[in-house]
Amino acid sequence: MMNDDRLEIADATDKAGGIIWTEDLRLGTPSLDCEHQAITLIMARLHAAAGTAVTGEALGLILSDLVDQLQAHCLHEEQFMRANRCPGIAVQTAQHNQLFDLVQQILGDFERGGFQLDTTAPTTLWRWFRAHVVESDLRLKGWGEW
Ligand SMILES: [Fe+2]
Ligand SMILES: [Fe+2]
Repeated sequence: MMNDDRLEIADATDKAGGIIWTEDLRLGTPSLDCEHQAITLIMARLHAAAGTAVTGEALGLILSDLVDQLQAHCLHEEQFMRANRCPGIAVQTAQHNQLFDLVQQILGDFERGGFQLDTTAPTTLWRWFRAHVVESDLRLKGWGEW
């Protein structure tokens, strides 16, 4: 039988819709890993809040926090790549731009839909983000500290 803490963790994990940072996503560059973890947490928060009685204003604040963190992170990652002369910066930048297109689409839907959000948006964002980390960001493994 699970104790209360474990039940709470199981409940939180369920509400996060499987949006959880796992060790296989670690690049080994602490600043980038911390940013990936922070972004994952915000996406999990967004998933937990979506489709609940949370106000549109509160959802908007989470979305705006997510946009800020994504922008800062993508810029930082591209600077990291330039500073370390990593190959593949054109692909990274193009994928980051695709991510911002997706975010803009979600923000547009959010505004047009009366400032409501269901769990589809955070789930879609998370699938995209995780796949990008696995397929592109993990290539930065071993390219130094920054
Ligand atoms: Fe990236
Ligand atoms: Fe990244």
